[in-house]
Amino acid sequence: CGIVGILGKEAVATQVVEALRRLEYRGYDSAGVATLEGGLLTRRRAEGKLKNLEIRLSNEPLEGLIGIGHTRWATHGKPNETNAHPHATERLAVVHNGIIENFRELRAELEADGHVFQTETDTEVVAHLVTREMDRGKDAAAAVGASLPLLRGAFALAFLFQGEEDLLIGARRGSPLAVGIGDGEMYLGSDALALAPFTNLIAYLEEGDWVVLNRKGASFFDKANKPVTRRAQRVAAGAFLVEKGNHRHFMAKEIYEQPEVVGHTLTQYLDMVAGKVRLPFEAKFDWQALSRLSVSACGTAYYAGLTAKYWFEKLARLPVEIDVASEFRYREAPLPKDGLALFVSQSGETADTLACLRYARQEQQHVLSVVNVTTSTIARESDVVAPTLAGPEIGVASTKAFTCQLTTLACLALAAARARGAITAEDEARHVQNLIALPGLMAKALELEPQIEALARELSKARDVLYLGRGTSFPMALEGALKLKEISYIHAEGYPAGELKHGPIALIDEAMPVIVIAPHDALFEKTASNMQEVAARGGRIILITDARGAAECGITPEATIVMPDMDPLFAPIVYALPIQMIAYQTAVFMGKDVDQPRNLAKSVTVE
Ligand code: G6P
Repeated sequence: CGIVGILGKEAVATQVVEALRRLEYRGYDSAGVATLEGGLLTRRRAEGKLKNLEIRLSNEPLEGLIGIGHTRWATHGKPNETNAHPHATERLAVVHNGIIENFRELRAELEADGHVFQTETDTEVVAHLVTREMDRGKDAAAAVGASLPLLRGAFALAFLFQGEEDLLIGARRGSPLAVGIGDGEMYLGSDALALAPFTNLIAYLEEGDWVVLNRKGASFFDKANKPVTRRAQRVAAGAFLVEKGNHRHFMAKEIYEQPEVVGHTLTQYLDMVAGKVRLPFEAKFDWQALSRLSVSACGTAYYAGLTAKYWFEKLARLPVEIDVASEFRYREAPLPKDGLALFVSQSGETADTLACLRYARQEQQHVLSVVNVTTSTIARESDVVAPTLAGPEIGVASTKAFTCQLTTLACLALAAARARGAITAEDEARHVQNLIALPGLMAKALELEPQIEALARELSKARDVLYLGRGTSFPMALEGALKLKEISYIHAEGYPAGELKHGPIALIDEAMPVIVIAPHDALFEKTASNMQEVAARGGRIILITDARGAAECGITPEATIVMPDMDPLFAPIVYALPIQMIAYQTAVFMGKDVDQPRNLAKSVTVE
């Protein structure tokens, strides 16, 4: 979704729509605007594309000098006018991008307090929470400040208040939000691109910040409600579409975008209200009839596929064979009649993956592909396309495309599990709830950055690094090693922790860091034994785990990265983040060209 807010000198509705048009790439199943007409909150909303809202506005124009707007990609509730943003109470209107994870609990609590809801959306809960604080006597800013800590999830918000002609409030957690500074005018937008027609002087909210705007300026607060300074900067002309915001590199920007784009991808595959998976395409094949799923991909996309193997096998009881595309294409692998071949690719143009797709076609397989670029060759040549909504990925080392691939594959595995009768409706609802929690958990994981930065200084001295993991943490070990070698040029290898004793243990000495990825899951104790083996040989262990894993690992690691608690099944989607940050920070500290590492290409269209 995209959000906009304008404190203007003239009627703002047209400008709000203009900014929304520049955000339409974020979703367009409904749109809306709210302004103050003589101090009174007034809304115009319309189902479908922005054009419909424009027609609405030309028939029933708005005159207000202050307004907020939204273009929506439905998460909770159908894409009709009732569920379109802004959502409102008698005191305020709000637009929202992202997912409020605990909206059910909050809604029940507010209903018990006498609040009456008009929609099925998670957003309306925010409107009522802030209203309740104002009913208790707080002013608008204090009410927002008191409400934000009650929300779980990843989101951006913009508020407009009844009778307040010179006040907009914005907040960000996990989803981006920018403040635009004009001449006696102020703006809020999901990105600088939305605000490009009005100003190029932009200040970005940092994670957890909220901001109070009036026509004279902006006051920023951090997540502890302490006033903070956020410097405004000029965005160079032409740089609006792909600009780095506050980040030094595209890779950092893309790492930080993950709560938002994973949330966006989830909304496409889940019916959050019903607690069910809902695929955005017609399958064209029968999950139940499949005897095997064949997966091929390259690089990071291959590791996404390898993680999905565990999910398809465990959840859907569907046997999976997986290979890197450059091998699979020449193996002349026999494929089962009416089988399903699955391809994973960010670009959708990788030559080896495409060759596998053509082989699968020739062998009469159904072809399903998980791609980020939906106009690509792989997408066009597939029977069914499952898009990842990562947005353009500029950094050569894949980050957000990877977690969006994982997210899409997790949803596909759940869909397969349901179709094959391998899980109950209750299981499905529980898994869906765990998926909905991911963006919020990712936002928490990003808070580990300062610790990882310190760790990276140490890692930069290493010549070799070993990554270990079991189960779904094994592909994360492979991805961790790939990321590190790609951008820092330090030699790194990923291994299944249980294979340590069959070879790599010979390498362990005081010089070699061993990064162990081990959430406290069913295999934790096994991995803990492998850590003992490393520790006994003087190896340096860096452990990525949760609080319980840290307490029960039985050794004293050189460093422990303590992740938030989560259900282990989809944990790789969150554990990918510290892995990416370790590689990124190490490479930055070493002064490497993070976005364009030597010898690599973003999209490899040769063999
Ligand atoms: C290149 C990139 C990798 C990517 C791989 C597969 O090697 O450097 O980051 O994982 O290609 O690309 P694809 O577009 O098919 O996901």
